[in-house]
Amino acid sequence: MVEEKSLHMTPDEFRRYGRAVVDWIADYYEKIETLPVLSQVKPGQIRALLPPKPPLNGEPFEIILDDMKRVVLPGITHWQSPNFFAFFPANASGPSILGDLLSSGLGVQGMLWSTSPACTELETHVLDWTVDMMGLPEKFKSTSTGGGVIQDSASSASLCALLAARERATKFASNEKGCDGRLVAYSSTQTHSSVEKAVKIAGLGRQNLRLIDVDEKFALRPDLLVEAIRKDREAGLIPCYVCATVGTTSSNAIDPLPEIGKTCRREGIWLHVDGAMLGTAAVCPEFRHLLDGIEFSDSYCFNPHKWMFTNFDCDCFFVADRAALIHTLSILPEYLRNQATESGAVIDYRDWHIPLGRRFRSLKLWFVIRHYGVEGLKALVRRHVEWAQKFARWVQEDNRFELAVPPPMNLVCFRHVGGDEVNQKIMDWLNQSGKIYLTHTRLKDRLTLRLCVGQTQTEERHVIQAWDLIRQAAQEIAGA
Ligand SMILES: Cc1ncc(COP(=O)(O)O)c(C=O)c1O
Repeated sequence: MVEEKSLHMTPDEFRRYGRAVVDWIADYYEKIETLPVLSQVKPGQIRALLPPKPPLNGEPFEIILDDMKRVVLPGITHWQSPNFFAFFPANASGPSILGDLLSSGLGVQGMLWSTSPACTELETHVLDWTVDMMGLPEKFKSTSTGGGVIQDSASSASLCALLAARERATKFASNEKGCDGRLVAYSSTQTHSSVEKAVKIAGLGRQNLRLIDVDEKFALRPDLLVEAIRKDREAGLIPCYVCATVGTTSSNAIDPLPEIGKTCRREGIWLHVDGAMLGTAAVCPEFRHLLDGIEFSDSYCFNPHKWMFTNFDCDCFFVADRAALIHTLSILPEYLRNQATESGAVIDYRDWHIPLGRRFRSLKLWFVIRHYGVEGLKALVRRHVEWAQKFARWVQEDNRFELAVPPPMNLVCFRHVGGDEVNQKIMDWLNQSGKIYLTHTRLKDRLTLRLCVGQTQTEERHVIQAWDLIRQAAQEIAGA
C-alpha cells in the first residue's frame, strides 16, 4: 500500500519555520522604533491585498511568512512600540510571548482539572503568588475562602462579579427565574464602559445602573453613593453591586475604597474593584496605598496584559467567597462528569467564568514573574511612574500647557491652553507623524490629551522625545 503524503507540517519543518518565526519577531522588535506607531492605512486597504478566495492547495510557509511584511505589517498599530503612549498599554515581553507559544504548542483546553491538572494547579498557584506579591488580602487566596482565576479581560471579570452579586442578592433566584427589574448596580460616571455592558448582559437593565457623580479629581463621591442607595431602597429596589475603580480609563482617578467599602458592608452590597491598569502598581509597597480599602471588596481584578508585561489576554480576577461565584456559574452536564470533580478535591475553572473552554494562560504570567522576579517588576513600574511624573513637571513649567488633573501615577492628562481645536490639531499632527501615538479624553467637557507611560520597551529617552515632539507640534499649530 502506498502511504499518502501527510498534509501536516513535519516536526522538522516546524523546527525550521518556528525558528524563522521567532527570528521574525526578534527582528520586528529590533526595528519597531522606526515604524509609524499608528497604522497609516485607509479602510479596506488591507483586504484589497488579499485574494478573494482561499487557496485550494497549501502554500509554502516562506510565502505565507513573507505576507506578514507585505500585507499585515502596514495595517499594524504598534502597541509594542516604545513610542506608544495611547489608551492604556497592552504589553508583551519576551518571556510572555514564549510562555504563550508553549501554551499554543501544548494546545491544552483546561476546562476541568482533569483535562490538564497542570493548567489548573499552576494557575491557582501563580494567582496565590500574586496575592502575596501585590499585598492583596489573604481572603483572595485559594487557601482561604476565595481564590483567583485568569479571565480574558477586565470586562469579563466585572461581568462575573456582577452575576455573583446578582445571585447573592436574590439568593440564587435570578438564575432560576430571571431578573424582575428591581436589582440596581452603581459605579461612577468615570467607570469603564464594560460595567454598563455587564449590566445589560446580566439582565439588570441599563436603567438600573446608577452613574454616581465624581469629585474634582474624578473619583466617585461616596456621599452621593449613600444617597442613591437610600433612594433606591425607599423605592423598593434592591441595590446589589458597586464597581469602584483604581485608575479610571480617562484620568487614572482612584475611587475612595474605604468609604465605598464601608457603605457596601453596611448595606450588604457586593463591591467589585477594577484595577485594570493601575493595579499593577501594587507590586511596589510604596504604591499599595492606592488599594487602601481593598479589604472591604468582594472581588478585585487587574490586567497583567496592560502594565505587567504579559501578552493579551490575561486578567487576574480574585473573589473573597469562591462558593458564591461557583454556585452562580456552575452547571454539570453528564459529559463533563469525572471522578476528580465528584471528589470535591479539585478546582474546575470552567465554573469561574463565562466560557467552558480555557487556554493555559497562566504559563505566560508564570514566565513573566520568573523572568523579571518581583524586584524586576518593581523596578520597571517605578521607572514608568518616575518618567510620567517628570513629563508632568515639564508640562507645568511650560506656560502653553496645563495639567488637566494632578497625575496620580503613570498617566498624564494635559492640554494646550489654546482650546479644543488646537489640542485636536496637536494630537492629529503627532499621530500622523508616526513618531508617537497618544489619545485623548474629555475632562470637564474639555478635550484633554493623555500620555500613559507603561509600554514594555519605553525608556526615558522616548518620553523626552515625546515632549520635544509635543512642543514642536504646539509651535507648528499654535505658533507659540
Ligand atoms: C479601568 C478599566 N477597566 C476595564 C477595562 C477593560 O479592559 P479589558 O479590555 O481587559 O476588558 C479598561 C480598558 O482599558 C479599563 O481602563
